[in-house]
Amino acid sequence: MCGIVGYIGTKKAKPILINGLLRLEYRGYDSAGIATMEKDGIKIVKEKGRIANLDAKEEINSLEGTIGIGHTRWATHGKPSAVNSHPHYDNSKTFAVVHNGIIENYHELRKFLEDNGYHFLSDTDTEVIPNLIHYYYKKEHDFLKSVKLACDDLKGSFALEILCNDYPDNMIVVRQDSPLVIGKGLNEIYISSDIPAILSFTKDFYFLNDREYAVLSRKNIEFYDNNLNSIDKMVKSIEWNTASAEKDGYEDFMLKEIYEQPNSIRETIGSKLSENKISFTDFEISKDYLETINRIYIVACGTAKNAGLATKATFENFCKIPTEVDIASEFRYRDPLINEHTLCIYISQSGETADTIAALKLAKQKGAKTIAVANVIGSSITRESDYCVYTHAGPEIAVASTKAYTSQVVLLNILALYFAEVLERVPALEIDNIKKEIMDLPKKAEITLGNVAEIKNFANTVYKETDIFFLGRGIDSYVAEEASLKLKEISYIHSESYPAGELKHGPIALIENDVTVIGIITNPKLVEKTVSNIQEVITRGAKTLVITNQKINDEQFYKTIHIPEVNPCLSPILSIIPLQLLAYYISKEKGLDVDKPRNLAKSVTVE
Ligand code: AGP
Ligand code: GLU
Repeated sequence: MCGIVGYIGTKKAKPILINGLLRLEYRGYDSAGIATMEKDGIKIVKEKGRIANLDAKEEINSLEGTIGIGHTRWATHGKPSAVNSHPHYDNSKTFAVVHNGIIENYHELRKFLEDNGYHFLSDTDTEVIPNLIHYYYKKEHDFLKSVKLACDDLKGSFALEILCNDYPDNMIVVRQDSPLVIGKGLNEIYISSDIPAILSFTKDFYFLNDREYAVLSRKNIEFYDNNLNSIDKMVKSIEWNTASAEKDGYEDFMLKEIYEQPNSIRETIGSKLSENKISFTDFEISKDYLETINRIYIVACGTAKNAGLATKATFENFCKIPTEVDIASEFRYRDPLINEHTLCIYISQSGETADTIAALKLAKQKGAKTIAVANVIGSSITRESDYCVYTHAGPEIAVASTKAYTSQVVLLNILALYFAEVLERVPALEIDNIKKEIMDLPKKAEITLGNVAEIKNFANTVYKETDIFFLGRGIDSYVAEEASLKLKEISYIHSESYPAGELKHGPIALIENDVTVIGIITNPKLVEKTVSNIQEVITRGAKTLVITNQKINDEQFYKTIHIPEVNPCLSPILSIIPLQLLAYYISKEKGLDVDKPRNLAKSVTVE
C-alpha cells in the first residue's frame, strides 16, 4: 500500500512531509517524493527507494515552501523508478498531484490526452490526472471545477492531493475508495492516508466520503459534495493513543486486517486485469517456455500453503498442467523429482520463512525456474527467486494471517489465468468470465464482512469447546484447513479439518452429542454430497454452522451464514472471511492475545 501526506501552515513543509512519510513507512513502498509551493511555483523532488534517499537529495534542501504534498509509492503501473514516483506534474507544470490507488481506465484517458496534444514522461496511470485537470482548466479557469471534471472521468480508486500554481495558498483533496484523513491544527492543516501519521500534531479530524472535495487554506477548509455544493462536515476528536491509532481504531491488528480485505484485494488486483490481456509489472513469461513445463509445484508453509491448495485447481483447469502443492519443510528433504520442465511457485507473506527459502534454493539447484509470490518488497525470497510477483496486502502485523491469504489466493488465480492466456489451451471467454468475477471480489468481500454479528453470536456459543471440526469437499476442504489453522493458532482450541467424504472412514467416531462441526459449501456440483455428510454428523448430535453461497434447505443446521455467489475457484476468498472472524471472536471471548498468540512468531525464520 502507498501513503500520502500533506501540510498547509506557517512552518516549512519539507521536514513535516518527510516525517509524515516516515510514519507511513510501515505501509510498504518502493519510492517517495514531495512537492512544495515555492515563490516561483511548484517544485518536485522525488526518488526511487527509501525515504532516506529522497531526503539525501541536494535539491530537497532548497524547498522553503509552507504548503506541500508527499507520497510513498507502491507501484501498480510502471516499475519503481524516479520518473514513475510521485508527485507528477502536468505538461505545463501548473499542477502537481500525488495519488493512492489505481486508475482502471487510464489507457483510454492517456490516449484521449495524447490526441489532445499531451505527452507523458512516466509509465504510471497517475500521470493522466494532472494532465486531465489541466485539460479542463484551460476551459474553466477554475481549480476546483477542473478537479471535479477530471475526477468525473476517472474510473478506479484514488486519494488525491493537488497543488496549482495559480492558487498558491490552496490545496485540493478528494478520495474514492482509497483512504485520506484531514487533521485540523491551529492555522495549519495536515493530510494523511491514515491517522497515526499525523496524530502527534492534532486530535481533530475530518473524514471525507467518496467524491467529496476539500479546498484547504491556512485559515480554513471548505467542503463540497460531488456537485460542488458547499457542505458542512463535523470535526471528530480522536482520543486514541499512538498504539490504538496504528490499529486505526480497531481493538486488534487482526480485526483491522480482516476488515482491510476489500481494499487489499482491490490493490492486489491492481492493474493486472484488463479487457485484452493480463499483465504484470516487471514479470512476463513466454509461451515457448511454458510449453516446456510438464508440472507445476506450489511450495509454502502454513496459511501460504493453504493459499496454494486453494488455487491448485485453477492452474490445472486453465493451464492443463499437473499441479502439486507441497509443504516447504517436507519438499526440501524428500529429494523431489524436479528439473527444467518443472515450474516452482513459492508463496510467502514475510518472504523470510526459512523452509520456503531453502525449498526454493533446492529447486534452483535442480534446474527449475522459480517464482516468488511475496508481500514484502525486497524480502529474502524475492532476491532468491528467478521471478517475483507481489500481493498488495500492505503490512500484516497480526501473527495470524488473514488479508495476506486472500490476497495470495487472488494473485495466484490471476497468475494461473495469465499462464492460461499465454498457453491458449482454454477458450479466452472462459478466462474473461473469471476475470470479470475477480473484479467484483472487493464488493463481495465487503458484503461478506456484513455477517459479523451472526458470527459473533455463534462464537459466544462455542468458545468453551475443546474440539471443533471443519468439513468441506473439493476447494472447500482447503478452506476448512485454513479455517482450522486460524482457530488453532489464536484460540488454542483443538481443531481438525477433513474432506467431508473422508469422515466415515474413521474421524466420524469422534462425533458425539454437542460437538461443533463447521461445514463449507460453495461448489454447486458438491452441495448434495456435502449436505449429506453434515446430516451424518447432525444425527450423531453435532451442533453445525454452515458457510454457503448455495440455496440449500438449512433447517437442520444450527446456524447458516450466507455469502455471495462466485465461481468456485474464487470462493475461498469469501468463504474464509466468516471463519477468520469466528476464530477472532472465539479468541476474544477467551480473553487471549489475538495479535500475538503463544508460541508463535509472525515469520518463522528458523527451521
Ligand atoms: C498463518 O496464520 C501463520 N502465521 C503461519 O502459518 C504462516 O502462514 C506461515 O508461517 C508462513 O509464513 P509466510 O507466509 O511469511 O512464509
Ligand atoms: N497507481 C499509482 C502508481 O502506480 C499509485 C500507486 C500507489 O497507490 O502507490 O503510481
